[in-house]
Amino acid sequence: MEDALTAIKRKAQEKAMRIVLPEGEEDRVLRATQAIREQNLAAITLLGSPGAIRAKAGTLGVDLKDAAIIDPQTSDRLDRYAHELFGLRKEKGMTEEQAKEAVKDPGHFGTMMVHLGDADGLVSGSTHSTADTVRPALQIIRTKEQGRKVSGLFLMVLPERTLLFNDCAVIPDPTEDDLADMAIDSAAAAAAFGIRPRVAMLSFSTAGSAQHPLVDKVKNATAKAQGKAPELEIDGELQADAALIASIRKSKYPACRLSGDANVFIFPDLNSGNIAYKLVERLAGAKAVGPILLGLKKPVNDLSRGCSVQDIVDLVAITATQAQQANGA
Ligand code: ACO
Repeated sequence: MEDALTAIKRKAQEKAMRIVLPEGEEDRVLRATQAIREQNLAAITLLGSPGAIRAKAGTLGVDLKDAAIIDPQTSDRLDRYAHELFGLRKEKGMTEEQAKEAVKDPGHFGTMMVHLGDADGLVSGSTHSTADTVRPALQIIRTKEQGRKVSGLFLMVLPERTLLFNDCAVIPDPTEDDLADMAIDSAAAAAAFGIRPRVAMLSFSTAGSAQHPLVDKVKNATAKAQGKAPELEIDGELQADAALIASIRKSKYPACRLSGDANVFIFPDLNSGNIAYKLVERLAGAKAVGPILLGLKKPVNDLSRGCSVQDIVDLVAITATQAQQANGA
């Protein structure tokens, strides 16, 4: 059977989306651009100094193909973007001068491109922190629904299966409602990636095996998610082994409504989610693709600073499929 990433790449090739890469002067981004163009996964715009990008590509022996290059320092879009940014953020205290300065930053410039429809999605983070990539997206692109939070999902690709882990990157201390929304958003993402979701709300307790306010939080979040989306397979609270192994689930929670082993894991907080994905990546050799931001109006995705060229290619393909979905393609 085709693995999830191969299916995502095939989908990305169906209709080329325009993806902007703000870290255009970074070696790995340049190498990834060549691979993305060779595989027809997306149309690419690199941000940075055209002279520096072309010189670096020459040194690396990279053929950038038809990738566009825009210099945010000198672009003729600066006034338009600054005007729009000022309009969005003046109530939060941003001045016109600050808006003019902010849009020269490639992260902000790229985010404005997506916001204003000059690009369909953005991938950044090979040289910037998660907060640097996520904050402009939260402030400019904003969430699909007001009051709903953005979370950071990882696709954990193992030889025999692909799992989805959320939230591993964004919300340090989610509320019950945040956890419920994460379950629903993650199930939708799984379906979009061709995976039939079975969602486990994780805890250190299975079906009341432990009593603690932290367990109650996951129980209540589970009830909220089930109430909001009764058509989805969501259950909890479950320990990770009960979520993964049928015999343990049957003995500890015979009434569990999951029809098979969980493939979408919702972690109770960012400590557990971030630690878990890194352990599974390092100890089990899973390929961790993400964080894929869920809940934004348009797709912006973050890379880990330790990312490889292949990680960038994979995340661009995922971003392209999210963009297709956002555009109704
Ligand atoms: N969803 C939606 N909106 C949000 C969210 C969210 N999760 N978090 C903040 N916002 C909103 C705020 O309400 C605010 O809106 P406003 O300015 O219009 O009122 C806006 O986004 C910006 O908020 P800030 O206060 O500037 O940003 P904040 O300090 O909340 O930071 C951030 C947001 C950067 C995501 C923060 O929660 C964070 O640092 N999270 C942890 C990131 C991290 O370090 N992850 C671990 C490493 S990742 C890895 O290992 C791959």
